Amino acid sequence: MATVTYDKATRIYPGADKPAVDQLDIAIEDGEFLVLVGPSGCGKSTSLRMLAGLEDVNGGAIRIGDRDVTHLPPKDRDIAMVFQNYALYPHMTVADNMGFALKIAGVPKAEIRQKVEDAARILDLTEYLGRKPKALSGGQRQRVAMGRAIVREPQVFLMDEPLSNLDAKLRVQTRTQIASLQRRLGITTVYVTHDQVEAMTMGDRVAVLKDGLLQQIDSPRNMYDRPANLFVAGFIGSPAMNLVEVPITDGGVKFGSDVVPVPREALTAAADKGDRTVTVGVRPEHFDVVERPEGRTDEPGGVAVTVNVVEELGADGYVYGTAEVGGERKDIVVRVNGRRVPEKGSVLHVVPRSGELHVFSTSSGERIGD
Ligand SMILES: Nc1ncnc2c1ncn2[C@@H]1O[C@H](COP(=O)(O)OP(=O)(O)OP(=O)(O)O)[C@@H](O)[C@H]1O
Ligand SMILES: [Mg+2]
Repeated sequence: MATVTYDKATRIYPGADKPAVDQLDIAIEDGEFLVLVGPSGCGKSTSLRMLAGLEDVNGGAIRIGDRDVTHLPPKDRDIAMVFQNYALYPHMTVADNMGFALKIAGVPKAEIRQKVEDAARILDLTEYLGRKPKALSGGQRQRVAMGRAIVREPQVFLMDEPLSNLDAKLRVQTRTQIASLQRRLGITTVYVTHDQVEAMTMGDRVAVLKDGLLQQIDSPRNMYDRPANLFVAGFIGSPAMNLVEVPITDGGVKFGSDVVPVPREALTAAADKGDRTVTVGVRPEHFDVVERPEGRTDEPGGVAVTVNVVEELGADGYVYGTAEVGGERKDIVVRVNGRRVPEKGSVLHVVPRSGELHVFSTSSGERIGD
């Protein structure tokens, strides 16, 4: 087992005008499950391949434990990688696929057999050891690919979207299996996905990348509760956080017809930058629906959201609507009780729950105030 350190690691592809990975700084703990997540092209695979030794590092360093591996060939790094397409050898049995790397390394036959059988037991593959990959389901092939990594007992596992070939249900099952297996084996793991739900459910910590730059590295909880900037706020969480630019008023921000209090430090920070507005974020589950008391006909206050679409998920419902906030018509998503969903075309009055408001600088996009 070992720590993994990216120390200002940079990759510039030949001919590119900017780095694909730009001064990446991450210190991964021994035994940690770290997930790299971000939109397509943000540099996830490149970061992983730099660690694997499959991509040159043009600046900075990469260390596994105390060893500087920046310029070591892949075979000397003591890592095992699981790819998206599994890359199994079609003409070999499951057992031979799993033991192949050990055979190449000259490990005695009996020892290979033992390791393959142990891994097969862990992965529930014992009865398939004699089969060829083409006679396996997608999930079973995925487990063979995992098995091939496990038998090598590497210091670090690297996985690049290993679940993307599985259907939705199997993907959910398999991600729990991989996460619990990793915890049992305690092998430091770097896992790449573009799926933020996968990242949040699997990782001890999650690192969000955009355009080759690290945006935030944090526990899933902190990432959700305190996104560091507008990009992370919009990327983590589904449906996404509502983000609206609103004018600053005395002691708060004007949200629809109400003034919503925000921390004084946030207003001061915005004023220091010369901003007249801030961008506030409210997650769909952090709106309270204002009920109009029986017999009253006046407007109940809050933001009036015209309901365009209602997505019913059973326990919850999501209202996709439009509202006038900050002088503009904005799309707003509100989570409601699944048993009490409003009708399409009706108007819902909502207020952001106090203490659940995220405030970002409109000019820099950074979180401000807390
Ligand atoms: N071999 C290469 N030569 C030149 N540019 C490359 C090469 N591989 C990747 N890139 C570029 O580097 C950037 C990062 O690519 P990378 O494959 O790391 O993205 P990613 O985050 O893994 O995306 P995806 O989610 O689509 O797999 C992209 O802009 C891509 O076009
Ligand atoms: Mg990729």
